[in-house]
Amino acid sequence: MALIIVFISLVIILAVLLYILLKRQKQYWRKLNIVGPKPHLLFGDYKDVILRHITHFEFHEEVYKAYPKEKVVGLYRFNTPVLLLRDLDIIQHVFIRGFDSFINRGIEFGNNNRNANLAVSTDDTWRMLRTRFSPIFTSGKLKNMVYLMERCGDKMLKELDSQKLSSMDLNVQEIAMRYTSGAISACAFGIDMDKPDEKLLKLEKMLFKNYLALELFYICPNLLKKLGFNAAPKFISNYFQDLVKLVNMQRNGKPSGRKDLMDLILEMKNFSEKIKGGQKNGNKDDEPKVLQITDELIAAQAMIFYAAGYDTTANTLSHMLYELAKHQDIQEKLYEEIKKTLEENNGELSLETLKQMSYMDQVFSETLRMYAIADVQRKVSAKSCRIPGVDINLKRDALMFVSVRGIHYDEEYYPEPYKFDPTRFSQENVKSRHPCAYLPFGLGPRNCIGMRFAKIQSKVFLVKFLNNYKVEPAAATKKLKFDPMKITLSVAEGLPLKVIRRNK
Ligand code: HEM
Repeated sequence: MALIIVFISLVIILAVLLYILLKRQKQYWRKLNIVGPKPHLLFGDYKDVILRHITHFEFHEEVYKAYPKEKVVGLYRFNTPVLLLRDLDIIQHVFIRGFDSFINRGIEFGNNNRNANLAVSTDDTWRMLRTRFSPIFTSGKLKNMVYLMERCGDKMLKELDSQKLSSMDLNVQEIAMRYTSGAISACAFGIDMDKPDEKLLKLEKMLFKNYLALELFYICPNLLKKLGFNAAPKFISNYFQDLVKLVNMQRNGKPSGRKDLMDLILEMKNFSEKIKGGQKNGNKDDEPKVLQITDELIAAQAMIFYAAGYDTTANTLSHMLYELAKHQDIQEKLYEEIKKTLEENNGELSLETLKQMSYMDQVFSETLRMYAIADVQRKVSAKSCRIPGVDINLKRDALMFVSVRGIHYDEEYYPEPYKFDPTRFSQENVKSRHPCAYLPFGLGPRNCIGMRFAKIQSKVFLVKFLNNYKVEPAAATKKLKFDPMKITLSVAEGLPLKVIRRNK
């Protein structure tokens, strides 16, 4: 009996201590005079996001809107304080001007080459990788890949034409995904897939899942790194390692002349087996850090290029087709531009031809304003620092989020924000806005390395598709509903549209 009483007393004491601890942790922003919603004792402010009832895009947009006068808003994800940056000058400081203090995203996995991909690597390792891989994504290099994307576009048309129907209700998300999966496989690994690789399609579904385990980043930020967790399940990284080995072998370790990403990586590897840069401990007298360019390191980049390049572009294209179906006038204007530009260039599709389609650029930008795929951009402070514009000192490793959707739907920057209006991206209109009011690809030195690739890949799809087909809402087309189980902004149950063959 006495034992039971001791046990119950201990449980009560522990519960009270836990309550006091959780309560005290939730005082963090109040002590710094930063306003924010009232947090739940356990979940903080993110209960519905953590339980996957709503997407984090929608949640952050709500918070952004609820505090129109604040430059920053204080939130908690479980016990972790998160600062939501609203003010564009502060965002400019964190992403661009003061970049060196905010270089990392605060997502770290076990320390091995499998996890050394650009998106999650940190500090000097990231700098070395970024310097080495950036030249691969210049217009000069990408222009040589347009023919590979064009082939994938032709394959898509062949599949559509084979249905021999003048009008059909189709899931355009699936059409876009098959195209981007083919284009990135052809451009990144030199694989011409007549049929999409079933294994790869299965992996794709897993790569973008919003796993509950990801919440561990907030409950105990360094746990995954300390426990040596990998960025992707072993069989996924094995898949990419086998792929890199195979391509490497097929090409005898040398560029093949295909001029795809793998050729450029092999060229880089042949030039030097190591990447040097930075100082081990930030101390100038230390030896520079060296990264060996192993198959593992290449496979890690191949995986992130594939993962980041496939789903993002496919969803952007399906959102664009959805808006074009709703706005026939915009679709016709775009079609006229495509037709005229192709005629003027004897039907030849090159980077130059694509550059001449300025209205297409505007439609693409407006789509990503309304549907920023990689919303919620995150940063952590590399050291304790002051944020200009608000009177606070941030500790080292303080976590910051930006609600891209909040900014992109802010009437101050975009009047009538729910209207799809590509003219917002005319040169004059762009110039009149704050440079950080548009950030679907991030900002500053750590922005999206694949931005140009994504634009070219999308434009090739649009030229091929819209020159031959048009879209209209189908009976099953509904208002878009986004999937909380996905990391990127993605509709939950496909996107059905009526696809109609153009009579030429
Ligand atoms: C519509 C398409 C795309 C969108 C909207 C998009 C958006 C983004 C965003 C918002 C970031 C984070 C930027 C930041 O934190 O400031 C990012 C990073 C990244 N993206 Fe993309 N992306 C797209 C396509 C691509 C493609 C096609 C590739 C590769 C072929 C790619 C590769 C990457 C990589 C490797 C990073 C990490 C860069 C680094 O940390 O240095 N993305 N992307």
